[in-house]
Amino acid sequence: MLELKNLYFTVPDTSNGNAGERNIIDGINFNFEKGKFYAITGPNGSGKTSLAKLIMGINPVSHGSIIFDGKDISSLSIPERAWAGISYSFQQPARFKGITFRDLLSIATGVADEKKLLDIISRVGICPLSFLDKEVDAKLSGGEIKKIELAITIAANPKLAIYDEPDTGIDLWTIGPMVDLLKKELAEHSTTTIVVSHNRIFLEAADVILIIDKGRFVYTGDLENSRPLLADLSVCTYHDSCEGEENAGCLR
Ligand SMILES: Nc1ncnc2c1ncn2[C@@H]1O[C@H](COP(=O)(O)OP(=O)(O)OP(=O)(O)O)[C@@H](O)[C@H]1O
Ligand SMILES: [Mg+2]
Repeated sequence: MLELKNLYFTVPDTSNGNAGERNIIDGINFNFEKGKFYAITGPNGSGKTSLAKLIMGINPVSHGSIIFDGKDISSLSIPERAWAGISYSFQQPARFKGITFRDLLSIATGVADEKKLLDIISRVGICPLSFLDKEVDAKLSGGEIKKIELAITIAANPKLAIYDEPDTGIDLWTIGPMVDLLKKELAEHSTTTIVVSHNRIFLEAADVILIIDKGRFVYTGDLENSRPLLADLSVCTYHDSCEGEENAGCLR
């Protein structure tokens, strides 16, 4: 349902006084299948967010193409991709003074009716009802804004949902329910789900692990066979003290 063909994202590279170029995404080919759960992981700066933004149209494609549901969307705008059924949840969501969660939810779903909005909130159970009239501004905590961002992404009923590090700042008690929620959405609506994460809970939930390094997929497959490479890339820490809730973010 989503095919990346020889995909590049190239930026000017002025480091060391050079006037060259740098391939942030360096020739990626991959076919994402409908209704599967994918986890993209890799070291900081390896290109995970850049790739997610390429798919959503926030970054421009420098070379190659993105095929979605059989159509080349490489040159479509962000809204056009959203209308086509792609939804993206930012690693660092924007904050808006004077705009409430209710406003954002209404825009994403086209629903204004109070009861229907409450139904949507109960569906995305990670967001308490008390959030509805909160302003999505600087006063919101880091975890609260991530929950709101994720809820809005789900409520838009996308065919393809991309979540960039959805667990950042989220308390340990919510991460499990968050994974369950994404799995439930996938089961009920066949939502193709791509999660960018370093968290073992998301990696364990995925059908396919994609490891990115220096802008290239260096591994695609199951979690078990990916472990040696994850350890090599120091994406995770392997040590005996990783058991227990306090280490829920540690891959083991
Ligand atoms: N528009 C841009 N112009 C120049 N450099 C960029 C641009 N976007 C990203 N980069 C660089 O590309 C590299 C990859 O960035 P990206 O945000 O994709 O990493 P990431 O894998 O998501 O990292 P993290 O795990 O820290 O979120 C970084 O070195 C970043 O500084
Ligand atoms: Mg990132």
